[in-house]
Amino acid sequence: MNNNIIELSDLSFSYGENQIFNKSNLSIKKNSFSLICGPNGAGKTTLLKLMMGLLKADCGTININQEDIGYVPQALNFDKEFPISVFEFVLLGALDKLSWLGRYSKKDKREADKLIHKMGLCHKKYKPIYTLSLGQLQRLLIANALLKQPSILLLDEPTASLDKESATQIFQQLIEIKKNTTILLITHQPPEDLSAIDRVIYIHKEIQDLDAEEICRHYPLGLSHGKGGVDHD
Ligand SMILES: Nc1ncnc2c1ncn2[C@@H]1O[C@H](COP(=O)(O)OP(=O)(O)OP(=O)(O)O)[C@@H](O)[C@H]1O
Ligand SMILES: [Mg+2]
Repeated sequence: MNNNIIELSDLSFSYGENQIFNKSNLSIKKNSFSLICGPNGAGKTTLLKLMMGLLKADCGTININQEDIGYVPQALNFDKEFPISVFEFVLLGALDKLSWLGRYSKKDKREADKLIHKMGLCHKKYKPIYTLSLGQLQRLLIANALLKQPSILLLDEPTASLDKESATQIFQQLIEIKKNTTILLITHQPPEDLSAIDRVIYIHKEIQDLDAEEICRHYPLGLSHGKGGVDHD
């Protein structure tokens, strides 16, 4: 599969009559950082769910050259109503590494601590997750996914409810792990500094794979320079 870690070929997917993808193609290089952008309802979340195997393509193929995928779901869609603490939830990221006694290793607990600290959740460590605000829940979901140190990390609007400073911090943390991680991140607010971003996958009826520089500064208004010129929503 050459240097590509993810390859979609002739991918089609519909929810009933609502066609989302029609023979779309996309290749993602190993250890690249891609933003996934596009208007509401375009199919960004659907694309990640197809990659995760949570949805099945109607036709076409999805090849993923790695098994350990971390997924940060869209926080608004996440049901946080179970009685589990912040610390326990972050540790769930290491569930597949449990000892035969069913215990987490000291190393995983230390890592979980570090991530809770990095995400600014220390004061919530032993609190149930339903006590978190939306922004805190987003940080929690990121910490949970990072604990696993996945080869591929898929994030669905992880900065949507974060203030600007927190969003920048999250981008910085992702850039730190980029050396060993292929990152695909859905966002409606691209960072101001696009230098660490390799590709922008723009979804709107089709999937366009663009250079980060091709994305116009007006993007948040719904304008982008696609391969075929300027595209107005
Ligand atoms: N489970 C479902 N059943 C039927 N239709 C769905 C389902 N999930 C999503 N859709 C529809 O599919 C389209 C794509 O949805 P998706 O959630 O992938 O969009 P999105 O690009 O992630 O949007 P947003 O920016 O609002 O998160 C939308 O029209 C949505 O209404
Ligand atoms: Mg979505």
